[in-house]
Amino acid sequence: MQLYTRSAGEGLPVVLLHAFPLSSAMWLAQREGLSAVCKVITPDLRGFGGSVLGEDEPSLDVMADDVVRLLDREGVDRAVVGGLSMGGYVTMALCRRHPDRLLGVILADTKAGADPEAARSNRERIAAEVLEEGTSVLLREVLPGLVGQTTVRRRAMVFGRVRGLVQSAPPTAVAWAQRAMAGRPDSFDTLRALKTPVLVIVGEEDEITSPAEAGAMVEAVPDGRLAVIEKAGHLSAVEQPEAFNRAVSGFVAELAGGSPPRG
Ligand code: MLT
Repeated sequence: MQLYTRSAGEGLPVVLLHAFPLSSAMWLAQREGLSAVCKVITPDLRGFGGSVLGEDEPSLDVMADDVVRLLDREGVDRAVVGGLSMGGYVTMALCRRHPDRLLGVILADTKAGADPEAARSNRERIAAEVLEEGTSVLLREVLPGLVGQTTVRRRAMVFGRVRGLVQSAPPTAVAWAQRAMAGRPDSFDTLRALKTPVLVIVGEEDEITSPAEAGAMVEAVPDGRLAVIEKAGHLSAVEQPEAFNRAVSGFVAELAGGSPPRG
């Protein structure tokens, strides 16, 4: 199993893992905007974009191991690893299983708690429906929460782009990922044990993984900092890429021992 990956830039390796049910296409503005300050590595998680799904049972651990195999293939010993929402869950699985591969961690619009029972059965319902009738259930139930009210009201092109990505998600990958996310454990102990710096990012209008949940992660990690992205919802990196990139490049500069850029 090899993940299809798009990379840009040189220098400190920064891996960015995409949200559900998207692909590395969501990181277009990060590949463009961050390639001047680091090497941006954006894989398609298994089943999405250009990566095949394979035969493994649904598990975030499997997804985390895929990412480590990608680091091996790229000759990268340690990297900054970050992810948005589902990508954040995969990042936390990687923190649990491969902490020695980390230089820093970015957790964007994600949460450390496990799913309550009702959320788990809802994921199973969506998995079954998507396998039966395709992505229409995602357009009805998932898409509306992905972006914030400001984007819905004022940024029709951004909303349209997200809609297109959701619509083209492969049903088998969607079902597999829903089942993988349903099985994830609570990650607060993993966060407490982290030895590397952590940047937590959240859109102020995020209704799926709230600013309060971001605050709880910052509190849990020994060395955390928080960036709240104004006028953005759950997909903060897509909705307000400049502000998102500023937060990431400041973190990269900090890790590299320089001072964060102004502004
Ligand atoms: C995501 O954006 O990746 C999803 O909202 C994650 C989830 O369903 O918990």
